[in-house]
Amino acid sequence: MKLKGKVALITGGANGIGKVTANMFLQEGATVVISDYNAEAGEKALSEFNHHENVTFIRSDVTNTEQVNAMVQSILESHGKIDILINNAGITIDGFLTKMEEEAWDKVVAVNLSGVFKCTKVVAAAMVENGYGVILNASSVVGIHGNIGQTNYAATKAGVIGLTKSWAKEFGPKGIRVNAVAPGFVVTDMTAKVPQKVLDKMEAQTPLRKLGRPEDIAAAYLFLASDDASFINGTILSVDGGLVI
Ligand code: NAI
Repeated sequence: MKLKGKVALITGGANGIGKVTANMFLQEGATVVISDYNAEAGEKALSEFNHHENVTFIRSDVTNTEQVNAMVQSILESHGKIDILINNAGITIDGFLTKMEEEAWDKVVAVNLSGVFKCTKVVAAAMVENGYGVILNASSVVGIHGNIGQTNYAATKAGVIGLTKSWAKEFGPKGIRVNAVAPGFVVTDMTAKVPQKVLDKMEAQTPLRKLGRPEDIAAAYLFLASDDASFINGTILSVDGGLVI
């Protein structure tokens, strides 16, 4: 029970890595709020958790400031605090630069970068008042090393590293730790859009010769969220099987 008594908010928690993390946090004694813009997926996730009394779903789009603020307000009213924020919501709209529409750039930046800013801005204020908090951001190997066809995505995931390091410095003195996880290729709906031959190539290039599972990333979030990581701040933890060393 590494998270007993903790209240965790996981954005984009209705699917993939976020949903598996929510489940792991529940097993570790946390009260979990999953938020997502996909209400149907949110309700489905709740039923998969057998409507566990310690998990709730709030429909909220991280690109919408009003919805984000209302979500955080409602969590503070019902639970009194937010101890852990996982900025997990993210999208890809891949394409080579010369063919990339500006809309694809704007949308990916709005979710993956501005969404992290909006959620953290309001949650961090509550954490500062409480004198405690853990903020975990979803970066990516692509944010560290770049990737062909992912100009927009790589830029946002590199941006998240800048946010993580800045906030680690800004909020560390206030009792708040800020870290990021940089997953390699993980089998979820997001990577289902990646051509199989690219995934095969990634697997072959990974020293551990396998792709990641959502559980691998959830375990990293659990470690960083727990008191086991109480002296870890401002780090970008690669969870990629050694894909890039
Ligand atoms: P996924 O597509 O399975 O789940 C993402 C969730 O975010 C979905 O439930 C979706 O509805 C939600 N979402 C999207 N836009 C949203 C918005 N505007 N507001 C609220 N919710 C929104 O993706 P996956 O694979 O679980 O990825 C989770 C995070 O991990 C993302 O930030 C992704 O960039 C990152 N990541 C994933 C990797 C992978 O290989 N799957 C690798 C590296 C990073």
